[in-house]
Amino acid sequence: MKRIVSGIKPTGSLTLGNYLGAIKQFVKLQEERENDEFYLFIADLHAITTRQIPHELRKRTLDIAAMYIASGLDKERTTMFIQSEIPQHVELGYILQSNVYMGELERMTQYKDKIVKGEDSITSSLFTYPALMAADILLYDADYVPVGEDQKQHLELSRDIAKRFNHYYSDFFTVPEPIIPSVGARIMDLQDPTKKMSKSADNPKGYITMFDEANIIKKKIKSAKTDSIGIINYDPIKQPGLANLLNIYASATDKKVEDIVSQYKDTDYKTFKEDLGQVLVDLLTPIQEKYQELIKSKLLQEILDQGRDRALDYAFKKMRKCKKKVGLGRK
Ligand code: TYM
Repeated sequence: MKRIVSGIKPTGSLTLGNYLGAIKQFVKLQEERENDEFYLFIADLHAITTRQIPHELRKRTLDIAAMYIASGLDKERTTMFIQSEIPQHVELGYILQSNVYMGELERMTQYKDKIVKGEDSITSSLFTYPALMAADILLYDADYVPVGEDQKQHLELSRDIAKRFNHYYSDFFTVPEPIIPSVGARIMDLQDPTKKMSKSADNPKGYITMFDEANIIKKKIKSAKTDSIGIINYDPIKQPGLANLLNIYASATDKKVEDIVSQYKDTDYKTFKEDLGQVLVDLLTPIQEKYQELIKSKLLQEILDQGRDRALDYAFKKMRKCKKKVGLGRK
């Protein structure tokens, strides 16, 4: 039996990138791996590394939980919980901060990007964020961590931290493997296909959220930036906008990019975009309907209560052993 762990940070609305890169993959893994255990959390502690409005943060935290379930996650087989309800994440995060170097944290792209942009209000928790992320994973002895491409660097650091700890204190943490999907791992901005689709982008036309209504989804796809070549072909260098749309289509339908290209090669961008808009509406509408049923339900609260209790049980035992190993406390 293997344990699979992943999380999503409740900043901004969930995007199609989060869905195709992470949620959909998680659901798929769960269908494929019947005997494995799944831990899934909403990383609210990570969210406050940048300023959040408290009631909005709380709402988005529940939104993600409801969206996970609405996306087809098997609630019986998933330990779903809210990160801040398990204090051991912070406890282990601190211990792991003492096992990672400033130079390693300085090399993290997420942090470097903020420095390059000249942002001056970078919190110290944003800088040490990767140690908390390593704690999220190592606390549960995760074997696999399904994430999108942008989290690969954090995963590599988590592996390095685990190995360093194991080397110094003797074997203790499972060294986790990332699972990154072959299609959908990097969904790009619809207006600027050189940037990843992100909930914090300035232009809302660049991303589709999981809450967008049908006509908005279709409009955003229709106005997605393409090129003047006008031929349906997969070329991420010369036709990055179109390549992104083809990836979205492939990931949403589980079809191969080359099959989609041959299906549409004698048509035009307009036809392709109209069909893609419909594909996404068909994909997201049933999820949105289930989300509406769940968001105010007692069931959602029960799932989170049960998830918290199960996660706490594991985390408490692991941390007790960890502190002993490090020499903290009396015994
Ligand atoms: P976050 O909240 O930014 O993103 C959540 C998941 O969505 C994926 N993702 C994408 N995939 C494809 N295309 C995109 N445009 C796109 N945007 C986001 C991310 O790769 C991720 O899998 N630090 C993490 C949250 C976290 C975590 C963890 C994840 C905290 N602790 C432990 C795994 C294990 C984050 O900020 O993801």
